[in-house]
Amino acid sequence: MYKALRPWLFRAPPETAHKGALVALRALGLLPAGARAKMPRLPVTTLGLALDNPLGLAAGFDKNGCALQGLAALGFGFLEVGTVTPRAQPGNPRPRLFRLPEQRALINRLGFNNDGMDRLAARLRAARPAVPIGVNIGKNRDTPLPRAVDDYRLGFAALAPYADYITVNLSSPNTPGLRALQEPEAARELLGALYEDRSALERRSGRRVPIAVKIAPDFAPEALESLLGVLKEVACDAIIATNTTVARPGVAHLRTAEEQGGLSGAPLNIRAREVISYIFNRLPEIPIIGVGGIVDAEEAWRHLLAGASLLQIYTGLIYEGPGLVRAILTGLGERVHATGHDDFARALSAARRNLSSGEAPNMIKLS
Ligand SMILES: Cc1cc2nc3c(=O)[nH]c(=O)nc-3n(C[C@H](O)[C@H](O)[C@H](O)COP(=O)(O)O)c2cc1C
Repeated sequence: MYKALRPWLFRAPPETAHKGALVALRALGLLPAGARAKMPRLPVTTLGLALDNPLGLAAGFDKNGCALQGLAALGFGFLEVGTVTPRAQPGNPRPRLFRLPEQRALINRLGFNNDGMDRLAARLRAARPAVPIGVNIGKNRDTPLPRAVDDYRLGFAALAPYADYITVNLSSPNTPGLRALQEPEAARELLGALYEDRSALERRSGRRVPIAVKIAPDFAPEALESLLGVLKEVACDAIIATNTTVARPGVAHLRTAEEQGGLSGAPLNIRAREVISYIFNRLPEIPIIGVGGIVDAEEAWRHLLAGASLLQIYTGLIYEGPGLVRAILTGLGERVHATGHDDFARALSAARRNLSSGEAPNMIKLS
């Protein structure tokens, strides 16, 4: 069905098509729960959250939390909204989103276009879908970098009460200077402040909101090593790896690849997996949410074998359509079954053990 619609959808500019998709998803959310198709279940508990399955929607698809019921109906185990900033902002001038269809990739330089934290908080207060919700927070473009910490603290204070986890986005390439917050000094100050706010909230409310940190794929090994040192120091709850890349792996020959912005989709897959595998080997105690270039069940499984506990997708949905959720969950279910274990986490440990005792095609070393 989606394959038939896609050529027609792709005739519209990417942002128009995306708006149309969100309208359709809002309508889907109005259907009674019983009318929705049943999804394969792969229960898993991570970050203190009991999820029906490990596949989530990545940040940026529903920045303002407008279509949560419909997105939940697609079968995701969890959804991440945002990136949201304290004040609403329009983002960069258009055009700012580009398709590379043959490569199943996108380049975007949206620049955190969003309705602002208060409107998102109001929406989350009004409508709780049946799946856990992560809220991804960032800084306003016009907040000077030395004051970035204030924006993140505002975002945390406004949204943590409505979030099952918070993601600190340090890795969008489209807000000037943002990635500098991944440098050890800046990361230590920012995350130190947020984890203190989290403790204060826990003392007041009795609820401990997990804080994940979303990182870029564009690291030299020493720089990633330094950031991981800080994440260990602050006892980071989870790492989301990765955001889009400013590199152009496999697409450099295309004219569209000259557009500034972050590349996502199939060409990002190997790099994202390298980063996941590096983190998993260095900090096996911190759960990783693997994201980047997952366009089918095989790539999803490879991210898991590389060290991810949970997964997220964005660009794959644009090219494969909403049926991708079921396709990935079905494919993962088959792979879990093939290990001889029923339990997802146990199956994954067994499959990883097999890998490390035999040849390890997925454990790529970061270079
Ligand atoms: C159009 C677009 C907008 C995005 N916006 C955000 C965002 O606001 N915050 C964020 O953390 N990541 C954002 N991302 C990055 C995705 O969440 C994801 O990390 C990245 O696209 C890699 O996954 P994929 O290959 O499955 O798309 C965006 C990606 C795209 C394509």
